[in-house]
Amino acid sequence: MRKALKILLIIIVIIIILAGTAASYIALRSIPKYDVQKIDVKVELTPQRIQTGTKLASMLCRTCHYSEDTKKFTGRELTEAPQFGKIYTANITQDTIAGIGKWTDGDLIYFIRTGLKPDGQYVPFYMPKLIHISDEDLYSIVAFLRSDNSWVKADNTRQSESKPSFLTKFLVTIGAAKPFAYPKAPLMGPDTTSQVKWGQYIALYQLECYACHSKDFAKNDYYNPEKSPGFFAGGNKMFTQEGKMINSLNITNDKTTGISSWTEEQFVKAVKSGIVPTGEQTLRYPMIPYSNLSDEEVKAIYAYLQTVPPITNKVERKFDQ
Ligand code: HEC
Ligand code: HEC
Repeated sequence: MRKALKILLIIIVIIIILAGTAASYIALRSIPKYDVQKIDVKVELTPQRIQTGTKLASMLCRTCHYSEDTKKFTGRELTEAPQFGKIYTANITQDTIAGIGKWTDGDLIYFIRTGLKPDGQYVPFYMPKLIHISDEDLYSIVAFLRSDNSWVKADNTRQSESKPSFLTKFLVTIGAAKPFAYPKAPLMGPDTTSQVKWGQYIALYQLECYACHSKDFAKNDYYNPEKSPGFFAGGNKMFTQEGKMINSLNITNDKTTGISSWTEEQFVKAVKSGIVPTGEQTLRYPMIPYSNLSDEEVKAIYAYLQTVPPITNKVERKFDQ
């Protein structure tokens, strides 16, 4: 009996030592590097691409990389994700030292798709990756970054280095967060003659509305968006820039908990200006007003959402918790 107890005690001590070693290993370790692939492309800067790229960057990159101080994409502290560490978005202006002036077009494309910088450094979930966006849209974003738009003019403001939290390092160490695979085949844009296909492209592959509007960032199926749990039924918890918790909302056509009563016109107004039919308040960050989308684009999203299976999920509109 006493012998059994002794063995049990020894086992417990060993487990504690192992767990302690694992925890300090994770705490000391930095986010790992991975092998990178060189992508050989040279994006031709056409006025059309720069225009499209500016529009896309205003919706996909500006919220995180724009600084109110410099009025440029010099980066800022990402205060809305405190659990992931003290994270700073990078300076992505054309400066060759503080910014991305030395990155090749291929480096940018590979990074935006996979999350891997040219030196193999991995940037986990606090920077979303565009794994499905069409090659042409991605080239347009690169064209914008190379353009003479004042947002990306070389600025030597140095951005602080991110300090990922234990949680972030843990998730990366156990492989719960890892780089995305670079697409094997060229990615085409949508057939815009089909309103539903066009809307599906915008909502899933280009602006990724589903990523916030499904149940949980951690449970989303990024490779097959439609298989994400609670697809478009909201309840995903996120933070305002002040660090207050806010829910994404159910935008399926569910009769009682979704937006089935909204007309197309009301939907367009809400998405473009943040004003919802009940009217008492405008939609709050991180839901940004998509004012640069054309009415046709938002109507296409509306048409696509009509085809998404309704899910009953009551989500509270809230600010605090
Ligand atoms: C949710 C916030 C967020 C959004 C949206 C976002 N980024 Fe980032 N980005 C980050 C963070 C955070 C980092 C820096 C992470 C680190 O290295 O610690 C980063 C880093 C980068 C880098 C690496 C720069 C360097 O020198 O290391 C590039 C390039 C970049 N982002 C481009 C983009 C582009 C282009 C878009 C739009 C398509 C975009 N980002 C959208 C958060 C974001
Ligand atoms: C970064 C996360 C995020 C993304 C991306 C996002 N949303 Fe939202 N959305 C939210 C949050 C959070 C709310 C709730 C805002 C509030 O309560 O004030 C919201 C609210 C809404 C509402 C209001 C619903 C209601 O019942 O009032 C609609 C409609 C909507 N989003 C549509 C979209 C569409 C369409 C897209 C893509 C073009 C999109 N959202 C992309 C986070 C996001």
